[in-house]
Amino acid sequence: MTKTILITGASSGIGKATARHFQQQGWNVIVTMRSPEMETELRTKKNVQLERLDVLDKESIDQALKNGIQRFGRIDALLNNAGYGAYGPLETFPRENIIRQFNTNVIGLLDVSRAIIPHFRENKDGVLVNISSIGGQMTFALGSLYHGTKFAVEGISESLYYEMAQIGVKVKIIQPGFISTDFGSRSFDFQAGNVPDYQPLIKALFKQWQNPENIVSPPELVARVIFEAVTDGTDKLRYRARADAEFLLEKRKTTSDVEFLNMMKKQLAG
Ligand SMILES: NC(=O)c1ccc[n+]([C@@H]2O[C@H](COP(=O)([O-])OP(=O)(O)OC[C@H]3O[C@@H](n4cnc5c(N)ncnc54)[C@H](OP(=O)(O)O)[C@@H]3O)[C@@H](O)[C@H]2O)c1
Repeated sequence: MTKTILITGASSGIGKATARHFQQQGWNVIVTMRSPEMETELRTKKNVQLERLDVLDKESIDQALKNGIQRFGRIDALLNNAGYGAYGPLETFPRENIIRQFNTNVIGLLDVSRAIIPHFRENKDGVLVNISSIGGQMTFALGSLYHGTKFAVEGISESLYYEMAQIGVKVKIIQPGFISTDFGSRSFDFQAGNVPDYQPLIKALFKQWQNPENIVSPPELVARVIFEAVTDGTDKLRYRARADAEFLLEKRKTTSDVEFLNMMKKQLAG
């Protein structure tokens, strides 16, 4: 039987590339996004169901799931991809932006997961894939909020791994490195604030990110890693995507805090 995946935040970047990839591999894809009326490419594809889903709107989550199951009979995999990055000095960051960041990247992911788990439990089968980041196990400066959400995604997913095993469901964490998407532009809530003490660090961070030696991968590469995670049939939890993530996370794992933080501080010093 043809399998079905539901993807959140599929209007662009990793979500869209993954929707394309699964569709090309013969899967049914429930492509969800906040503004499906804007989507022109995916709606023309075979076995694609386009649905409105805002992870901050519980009703839209329930409706998208219901419509997807009605069309395809069942859902075999969920990709919690929707998310964005809030960066900037904490003390001046607007409180409403802090709440939106955690609501989107964490509570939204929990709400979508909670909505689909009963369906997976009924089927005694399912794969729950959460997009974390290299920034779920290491941090860049001025990212207390974004990294706070991605560390949360790591903890949530790792603990769910045991819980979901009770009902035949696999949990997968994807850790992309730098990926060429809209993340650094329209999905980036950067608030510089007005405290002069932090301005040199802001400058240094952008210089670190814009280093031409950084490896930047296309979203299609992450899509292939996600496909592997969903279909490899193993109990493996974490998947790095890819070369820069491999390097940085391996370094994080194998060096002491002092050594790793000093390496990052050196990069900031230029
Ligand atoms: N790019 C990277 O370097 C990188 C690295 C590590 C991890 N990630 C993670 O990868 C995921 C996808 O990001 P991307 O790089 O593909 O960036 P992107 O192209 O900007 O995609 C972000 C997606 O999230 C959606 N979204 C935001 N808020 C939403 C909400 N409330 N409800 C539903 N959808 C919402 C956006 O939808 P709209 O079109 O409606 O705005 C967009 O489709 C994120 O979780 C991000 O943290 C990215």
